[in-house]
Parts: sequence; C-alpha cells; structure tokens
Amino acid sequence: MTVRVGYPKSMVSGTMKSQPFKERVVLITGASSGIGRAAARAYAAAGANIVLAARRLERLEDAAREVESLGVRALSVRCDVTRSEDVERLMRETQAAFGGLDVLVNNAGQGLYGPLASISEEQLRQVFELNVFALWRVTRAALPLLRGRRGAQVVNVSSVLGHRGLPLLGGYCASKAAVNAMTESLRTELATEGIRVLLVSPGFTESEFREHRLNAEGWAQEAVPLKAMSSEEVAASMVRASVRGRRDTILTLPGRVMVLANRFVPGLFDRVAHRMANPVKKDA
Ligand SMILES: NC(=O)c1ccc[n+]([C@@H]2O[C@H](COP(=O)([O-])OP(=O)(O)OC[C@H]3O[C@@H](n4cnc5c(N)ncnc54)[C@H](OP(=O)(O)O)[C@@H]3O)[C@@H](O)[C@H]2O)c1
Repeated sequence: MTVRVGYPKSMVSGTMKSQPFKERVVLITGASSGIGRAAARAYAAAGANIVLAARRLERLEDAAREVESLGVRALSVRCDVTRSEDVERLMRETQAAFGGLDVLVNNAGQGLYGPLASISEEQLRQVFELNVFALWRVTRAALPLLRGRRGAQVVNVSSVLGHRGLPLLGGYCASKAAVNAMTESLRTELATEGIRVLLVSPGFTESEFREHRLNAEGWAQEAVPLKAMSSEEVAASMVRASVRGRRDTILTLPGRVMVLANRFVPGLFDRVAHRMANPVKKDA
C-alpha cells in the first residue's frame, strides 16, 4: 500500500519529460469527466495514444482534442459500459484503430448515498451494474486485445471506501469492495499471461461525482469536511502507479489512515466512523 499525496507538476500540466507510454494504447472508461478525463491527459502526456469511452460523445470529443494537442492519437467512442453490444463495439473500434491495447483503465463509476435501509433495490442494482458488472464486462471483452502485449495492464479504479464500509455509504462501499476482490482474483489469474492488474483507490476528489451520485429518497449529504484532491492529482498518481506497476495505491492521507486504523483497531474505527457520517436528511 502506498500513499500518493505529492505529484510532479510536469505530469499534471501535460509536459511529462520522459514518455514511458510512447506508442502504447490506453483505453479509459468514464473519460468524459473528472478522474477519467484527467487520466486521458496524463497518459497522453506520458506518450500514450488514448481511447476515450463514455456516454456523452461531445464531452469525449472535447477531451480527445485536448489529448491530441499533446501530440498523440485519440479515439472517442460513445459507449454505455452497462450494455454488452456497446462494449463489444468499443473493442472492435479500438482494435481497428490501434491493433490492440496495452492498458485498460476501468474508471467509470457512480456513487450512492443513504442508509442501507433507505436505498432502493433499483438504486443498489444500478450502482452494482456500473461499478461491478460493467468493470467485469469491459475487462473480459478487453482481454483478447491485451493478450500478448508486452507490459499489458488493467488498472481498476476503486475508492478508499472499498477498503472499509462507512455508514450512509454502504451500497457504494459494497460495490467497491467487490472491485477490490475482483482485482485480487484477476491479478493472480492473469499473472501467468504477463498482464498486471493494479488497484487505485482515490479518496475525496473534485469531479462531477457528487452531481451524478444517487441519493436514497429523502437523503442528501452535506459538504464533506475533507480537503479534496483534484482529478489531475489522482490521474498523475495513477500514471505513476502504472509506470511502476504498483499493485495497490491508496490516495490521500485520511484514506490511508482509515485503511490502517480499520485493519489494526476496527472497534475503535467503528466509533470514529459513526461520528464521520454527518447525515443530513433533505426533508429534515
Ligand atoms: N470523486 C471522488 O471523490 C471519488 C473517490 C473515490 C473513487 N472515485 C471513483 O473514481 C471514478 C471516476 O469518478 P469521478 O470522480 O471522476 O466522477 P465523474 O466525474 O462523475 O465521472 C464518472 C464517469 O463515468 C462515466 N459513466 C457513468 N456511467 C457510465 C456508463 N453507463 N457507461 C460509460 N461511462 C459511464 C461518466 O461519463 P458519461 O456520463 O458521459 O457516461 C463519467 O465520465 C469512479 O469509479 C468513482 O467511483 C471517485
């Protein structure tokens, strides 16, 4: 486990000096905003050609122009990762444009807020459909493109909340815990094929995440009393983890403290977690 709180400004500004991903192909799901869009820029600054996938095509094309301005090729593919036919087309277009894939970044994801007793089954299924089933679907579809490519990687974006369940976030935490478990299994399943599987767990990050998050009926979260990382900082840490093949990257100091406290003093952390919840009901 490694904390990444610092990052080289050159990587974030798109002027990374060395280009460890030159001529490599990186496919990023959820590249239309937040961490995914920043990751597209950061991998491009490291020399990679980028496949950008998400549902909002205009946003993707805008992001693709940014990426191309860094001197690499970009392909935008409108893709709802919860739909098998979209994912299959995404892989066909990637294969046709670039002849294979070196790094898959499974980043598309969505939050869910509210007590487990108040979230609906539909909301829980929707979040699992995107955070878990789609990650599995995209990975499975990408494997034929990754096989045989030297240094191939799958980078799964989890969350610090995948390492510890917190009150009012149980549905989201469960989905990311499933991502963590799948990542561990996949890592060993693919080891003999030379495909590395990395886990990147951001903490609280500035993005559109809170706008897109589902809320249980009558529940909304107040401002989080934590300093957010920028999406660019998360992306820079992701690319560094990718360059080094680091298996597990937990971001932000509070995130790392939480994971360690939960491992060594879980009972004490239960009490801290209770106080961290800060619940606000919309209709209170
Ligand atoms: N922000 C945080 O505090 C935080 C903390 C820890 C972990 N994370 C994780 O980081 C990842 C990125 O989140 P973010 O913070 O960058 O949030 P974001 O700005 O809301 O980005 C989410 C991305 O997922 C895409 N997406 C959603 N549904 C999709 C679908 N059905 N098919 C394809 N793409 C879809 C969205 O694009 P379209 O709407 O265009 O499809 C968007 O590009 C997520 O996995 C999230 O769980 C975020």
